[in-house]
Amino acid sequence: MPAVIVLGAQWGDEGKGKATDQLGQHTDLVVKFNGGNNAGHTVVIDGEKYALHLLPAGILSEGVTPIIGNGVVVDLDVLFEELEDITSRGVDCSRLLISSNAHIIPPYNRLMDQANERARGNNLIGTTGRGIGPTYADKMNRIGLRIQDLFHPEELRAKVEAALAPKNTIFEAVDLQVLDPAEVSDHLLSFAERVKPMLCDVSLVVNDALDRGDTVLFEGGQATMLDIDHGTYPFVTSSNPTAGGALTGSGVGPTRIDRVVGVAKAYTTRVGEGPFPTELDNKVGEALRTKGGEFGVTTGRPRRTGWFDAVVMRYATRINGLTDICLTKLDVLSGYETIPVCVAYEVDGVRTEEMPLDQAGFEAAVPVYEELPGWSEDISQCRSFDELPQAAQDYIKRLEELSRCRIQSIGVGPGREATIVRYPLM
Ligand code: GDP
Ligand code: IMO
Ligand code: MG
Repeated sequence: MPAVIVLGAQWGDEGKGKATDQLGQHTDLVVKFNGGNNAGHTVVIDGEKYALHLLPAGILSEGVTPIIGNGVVVDLDVLFEELEDITSRGVDCSRLLISSNAHIIPPYNRLMDQANERARGNNLIGTTGRGIGPTYADKMNRIGLRIQDLFHPEELRAKVEAALAPKNTIFEAVDLQVLDPAEVSDHLLSFAERVKPMLCDVSLVVNDALDRGDTVLFEGGQATMLDIDHGTYPFVTSSNPTAGGALTGSGVGPTRIDRVVGVAKAYTTRVGEGPFPTELDNKVGEALRTKGGEFGVTTGRPRRTGWFDAVVMRYATRINGLTDICLTKLDVLSGYETIPVCVAYEVDGVRTEEMPLDQAGFEAAVPVYEELPGWSEDISQCRSFDELPQAAQDYIKRLEELSRCRIQSIGVGPGREATIVRYPLM
């Protein structure tokens, strides 16, 4: 039975929530492996919309055990707010499990996120402001707080005091509120008893499930081009949303994984700062934003829009070892006479099919476009590949060729049912 990683192939918001939900209906466990409440994953079931930030999208499927892996950073306030919200809408969240090794986003790291952005001046990253970067920095710096620390109050207080002292100096310097370590510790410790029943050794639970023949889906937050190692550094998030992150973020080995699915839009979007070669910073881009409803789920910011970039997609195929692409939002492209697709870049007058070696090359890249014939029909009711207009079928086939990976499914609407499955995975 398969273990499937579902991750973002572009700059985020590709429709991972919908893909996870759709595949999750045939899954036993859904494990979130990276990031935190910087993510905003939308699922639409029977016309009802759910926006999930910290909880795995799999929580919406009956019978699934949702799991937050050790690679996730957990804001305890957000965790319980989201649980309350989702539970009040009739979703059973009682099976949620959380790794005791997951790091906590303490309140001071939300402030630190702001302080860091202020210090960058005009060169800001445009983070979601959720404290993600500072929490992963503390983790790497070995001054982070793990969920298991909630059960060792005196040690936790000492850790908070040590981590907060230098940060308070910074807050003071940039006119942010100075925090009292005792108050911060009391607040965090107040969650201990509520979180206790959810704790587990995620690695053990997942490996046991795989041994039993259960299906496990690993749900990535963010995306390949936002990866701390492989993305457009420093305009990235602070985790590994790529396939490797699914392994380290949950404690499974590479030999256990059967499929790696990259979710990609039929065009491209990006939120926040950083290079984006196919960006349409004009009326065409604005129209695409309106047509696709491209506004952030987490921050409400308008998303930058552009055409499909096959160089980025090939890169995502390679970095993640993709076996499949889940292509979303094809319905948004109905109505164009022709659709440009970026097949290569020109960097300093030289054509390249691959990601430029150096970031300056990527920033200077001029897209080389191939114009593909468009279609005018509304495709939102199509449920099989053959029902799509010929031009849409050809668009898919060309993207497949350029991406060096098969397109497993095609999204034609936000709803759970609005998917053309070409190759069932489970
Ligand atoms: P995620 O962060 O990757 O889960 O994606 P988001 O939820 O942030 O953004 C994707 C948006 O596109 C959401 O509003 C989804 O409901 C919507 N969506 C997903 N797939 C499709 C699709 O195939 N067609 C259309 N029209 N909308 C889609
Ligand atoms: P999902 O899972 C799109 C972007 C932010 C910013 C950069 C760093 O919904 O696809 P951070 O707060 O993580 O330090 O911000 O990364 N970013 C996302 N963009 N989708 C996301 O998540 C994102 N999570 C972070 O806009 O540019
Ligand atoms: Mg999103």
